Amino acid sequence: MSTHPARRRQLRTWSPAMKQEHLQAVTADSAMGPELLDLASNDYLSLCRHPSLIAAAEAQLRCSGVGAAGSRLVSGSRPVHDRLESELAQWLGRERVLLFPSGFQANLAAVKALANRHTTVAVDRLIHHSLLVGVQASGARLRRFAHNDLESLERLLLHSRRERPETPLLVITESLFSMEGTSPQVHRLATLCERHGASLLLDEAHALGVLGEGGRGLGFGESRVTMLSGTFGKAFGSGGAFLACDGELGEHLLQNSGAFRYTTALAPPLAAGALAALELMRNNPDWGRTLVKRSNIWRERLVEAGWVRPTGEGPILPLLVGEDQRCLNLQHHLEKSGLITAAIRPPTVPEGSARLRLVLHRLLPDETLETLVRALSDGRVPG
Ligand SMILES: Cc1ncc(COP(=O)(O)O)c(C=O)c1O
Repeated sequence: MSTHPARRRQLRTWSPAMKQEHLQAVTADSAMGPELLDLASNDYLSLCRHPSLIAAAEAQLRCSGVGAAGSRLVSGSRPVHDRLESELAQWLGRERVLLFPSGFQANLAAVKALANRHTTVAVDRLIHHSLLVGVQASGARLRRFAHNDLESLERLLLHSRRERPETPLLVITESLFSMEGTSPQVHRLATLCERHGASLLLDEAHALGVLGEGGRGLGFGESRVTMLSGTFGKAFGSGGAFLACDGELGEHLLQNSGAFRYTTALAPPLAAGALAALELMRNNPDWGRTLVKRSNIWRERLVEAGWVRPTGEGPILPLLVGEDQRCLNLQHHLEKSGLITAAIRPPTVPEGSARLRLVLHRLLPDETLETLVRALSDGRVPG
């Protein structure tokens, strides 16, 4: 596979700057260079170094070991998996939850369970790569609608019904788009799907813990969402993922999904970390709302400083820069100012829309916003 030299990516290893409460739980690796404030990762609730997650993972590590050493249906199931599944199902108000080693894998399993070569799948044109790979693997017919545009989706559904009245329909979208920071109107979307007899798969990877009532995502309380997909690698501060659905579909996944059956079970310490995160989210139902409020203060301040308002409402703030090299220069400049950010460039985003993906986290110090605005203004390349 060849990549144009200007588009080649490199690994960037860095050390996160930590708050005192985190330092108590973790020893920083001094060999990794200066500590940077994290404005790049998906650790929205600052949980990945939270003492409760570390303690839970550590305890599980000692009692269950590092890995599960078997698939769920053979010898890999542990009580922590069952508990995480049942507590998540209860929190989300769904009958069944099944764990997967990663969100990528969960998404493959979800699409394969809901679509086959007879299905027409309508996807938001900006959905995650894993969902597209799932559609490809299912053999279904792929159709794209404009980003978060329900009229575009309706036209597509009407057209598909007219052309192939018997075809099963599946709609796939996300509740918080990771490069745009935007969200669809989930209830209107579900109504549309119901009207056209389409199933609905909602990827809540970036929304869980942050958006919706008590951080339970935008699909919470919307029973017309056929299946939810979530990952523990973002606001949960751990790793692994899950699918949530009704009992019948859950049983179908358990019996038939290769992505569930033929893989080593989620590492028990990660499951324990996710369970500890869930407990913290349940006990702090305002964390998400507070973070969203703070992100909008950041948006206003960036506008005041002369930037285009980053789209969306939540903690992902895409700062549109445009040209790839300008975006990279700005990223490097911010890094020298102690801030780690990510320059997102094509093909991840459309040509000419390179952006700095700024991510707000619960425990970022208050002064971060002014440090950022100052660094952005110093690093701005005219034109
Ligand atoms: C929208 C979305 N879905 C799924 C995934 C995959 O999740 P995981 O990192 O757990 O494989 C990601 C992560 O990149 C994502 O952004």
